[in-house]
Amino acid sequence: MASLSETSPVGVPALLSAKGREKIAMMTAYDASSAGLLDAAGIDVLLVGDSVEMTVYGRPNTLTATMDMMVRHTRAVADAARRALVIGDMPFLSYQADAREAVLNAGRMLAEGGCSAVKVEGGRRVLPAVEAIVAADIPVMGHVGLTPQSYRKFGGFKVQGKSAEDAAEIRQDAEALAQAGCFAVVLECVPEGLAAEITRDLAIPTIGIGAGAGCDGQVLVFHDVMGLTGATSTPRFVRRYAELAPLIEEAAREFAKDVKSGEFPSAAESFTGGATPALRRIY
Ligand code: KIV
Repeated sequence: MASLSETSPVGVPALLSAKGREKIAMMTAYDASSAGLLDAAGIDVLLVGDSVEMTVYGRPNTLTATMDMMVRHTRAVADAARRALVIGDMPFLSYQADAREAVLNAGRMLAEGGCSAVKVEGGRRVLPAVEAIVAADIPVMGHVGLTPQSYRKFGGFKVQGKSAEDAAEIRQDAEALAQAGCFAVVLECVPEGLAAEITRDLAIPTIGIGAGAGCDGQVLVFHDVMGLTGATSTPRFVRRYAELAPLIEEAAREFAKDVKSGEFPSAAESFTGGATPALRRIY
């Protein structure tokens, strides 16, 4: 089996066979321009996370994300990705209430959104939805530990599985999801020892976020990695690989200055009445 980096496009079978052979790099993406860059950089999996509601729309949590917006953002990412596997996140209440509705919503993500798989949060309590979606031949990624759609139940965004009882619950949830046919499971904010044990025991890949180095892959949120969020609100498990916020602010400041001083646009950036080359892009 070829390594993931040689696999184009990355599919669910390739991810499954990467377990134990090659670490999986996953990042969130919400729009076509950033998805194209991440894809070209060799990110294996692009997750159109419902975190879009916080990162792009500035909401305090993910509960207000809707199917319509997830489908639209997923379409943008899927159209831009050449190689990466694109996964659409199922928003709050799109799969919890009813298994039939879950299948129809997951089907929308694939048919209208153009992704290859969906992700759902929760363990044994969402098994009816997971089983129904899998039975419709739609690949499902699970998500246990700190599941942000349940943050009110947890009393905030807190590390999960610290007590022996909680750890056992999370382990059983992950096992049940694998049993139900999930092709991978996200482990969010759990102790690294627990994540390593689950990774050892499951036949499917685990993707960690705040779950230590023992997982089969790692996922981070685009805005955190690129330094687009405030450094003080960055969780401890994030590594910021760039600091784009000050660069963007400085570029915008320069533009505003040039507009006000008349420095922009120059003659070269303006049209005359004569023949002009084709425009690169027409808005
Ligand atoms: O919505 C999201 O971004 C996620 C990741 C943090 C795993 O679910």
